[in-house]
Amino acid sequence: MRVLAIETSFDETAVAVVERAENGLVRVVAEVVASSEEMHARTGGAVPEVAAREQLTSIIPVIKEVSRQARLRLDAGREPTSEEEEVERLKEVVGAVAVTQGPGLIGSLLVGVETAKVLALAWDKPLFPVNHLKGHLFANWIEGKVGKASGLQEAPALPAVGLVVSGGHTDLVIIDKEGEIGWLGGTRDDAAGECFDKCGRLLGLPYPGGPEIARLAGTYKKSVGDDLNRFGVELPRPLMGGEGYDLSFSGLKVAVHRVLQEKGKSESVIAATAYELQEAVVDVLVQKTVKAMDEFKPKSVLLAGGVAANWRLGERMRQEVEKSGDGVKLFVPEKKYCTDNAAMIGGAALIQGEVVAAAEVKADPSLSLRE
Ligand code: KG4
Ligand code: ZN
Repeated sequence: MRVLAIETSFDETAVAVVERAENGLVRVVAEVVASSEEMHARTGGAVPEVAAREQLTSIIPVIKEVSRQARLRLDAGREPTSEEEEVERLKEVVGAVAVTQGPGLIGSLLVGVETAKVLALAWDKPLFPVNHLKGHLFANWIEGKVGKASGLQEAPALPAVGLVVSGGHTDLVIIDKEGEIGWLGGTRDDAAGECFDKCGRLLGLPYPGGPEIARLAGTYKKSVGDDLNRFGVELPRPLMGGEGYDLSFSGLKVAVHRVLQEKGKSESVIAATAYELQEAVVDVLVQKTVKAMDEFKPKSVLLAGGVAANWRLGERMRQEVEKSGDGVKLFVPEKKYCTDNAAMIGGAALIQGEVVAAAEVKADPSLSLRE
C-alpha cells in the first residue's frame, strides 16, 4: 500500500508519498518540505499565528508538487489537464492518507488534519492519525540513500531503546518486541533542542540555535586541540547519574547566562560555551540512554528528532553502543528525516497505523508518548 502523509505540526509544511519496501523499510516515492524557518529566524522563534498562516498558504502548492513528483515517478497515466486534476491524480496512486494529529501548535496542526480529513473523505480512503513523536521514531525505518545504493540497510530489530530529542520534546522510550512503546522518562522542563535554541539566543546566534551551536562546537574543538577547557567554561550536567530517567535542561540557560556575565561575550568565550553546552547536553542524554540499555538489553538504539542530527550525540552514542559489545545496533535517520518531515508520518502509519473514521479525527496539541 502507498500512503499520502501530511505533517504540519510546527513550522514545516511537509507532504510525502511512501510505500513499504520488501525488506520492511519505508520507501519514499515523493516528498516536499516547505519551511517557514527563515521567517521565524527574523523573530528569533516561531510565532504560532505566523506559523499557521504559512501552513495555510503552503499546503495546497506542496500537495500539488508531491502529486506531480509521484505521478512522474510512478508514470501514472496521461498528463493532467489542470492543477486541480493534478491533485485528483494522487487518488490513483495512494491507498490511504496519514496525518500528524499532535503534539504541536494547534493552528498548524489543524491545517494538516483538516486537509487530510477532506482528502480521505472525498477520495473514500482510510485515514491514519499519527503521533508526531512516534513518527520521529519510525524515521529510523526510512530507506536511506546509502542503504538504497548498497542494499545493506535493514529495519531496526526490536526490542529497541528510542531517544526522541527535538525542539519540543525529549523522551526516552522502550519499544518492545511487539512494537508497543513504553515511556521511560523525559524532560521535566525544556527539551534538549529548546535548550540549544534558548542558549543560542543568549550566545547571540541565529535561530535555531542547535545547528549553530553544533557548528561552533566543531570548529572550537578543531582550533584548540587538546586544550578544550582553555577558557575555563564549565556547565552542570543536570540529573546525570541520578535515579530514573528524568531529564532537565532549563538550568543550563541560567548557567550559560552566568558564564557570559562572568567572562564576557568574546568570540572565544562564545565558542567555548557552545562546545561545553553541547558536551553537557550530550553527556546527560548518553548516560540515560546507556542506563536504559543496561536495564532493557535492546537489540537496537534509535535516535530521533532534530537533535539526533547532532554530530557529537551520534559520535558518543556510537562509542557507547560499540563498547556494550552485545551486537546492539545504533540507528540515526538521515539528517532530513531527523527534523520534521512527512515521510516519517507515513512510515509510522504503514508500520503501526490504526485507521480512525475521518469525522472523528481531531488535532490534539497535547499528545505525548507518556501513557
Ligand atoms: O524535530 P525538529 O525538527 O522539530 C521539532 O519537532 O521540535 O527539531 C528541531 C530542533 C531545534 O531545536 C534545533 O535547534 C534542533 O532540533 N537541532 C539541532 C541540530 N539540528 C537541529 N540541535 C543540535 N544539533 C544539531 N545539529
Ligand atoms: Zn518534530
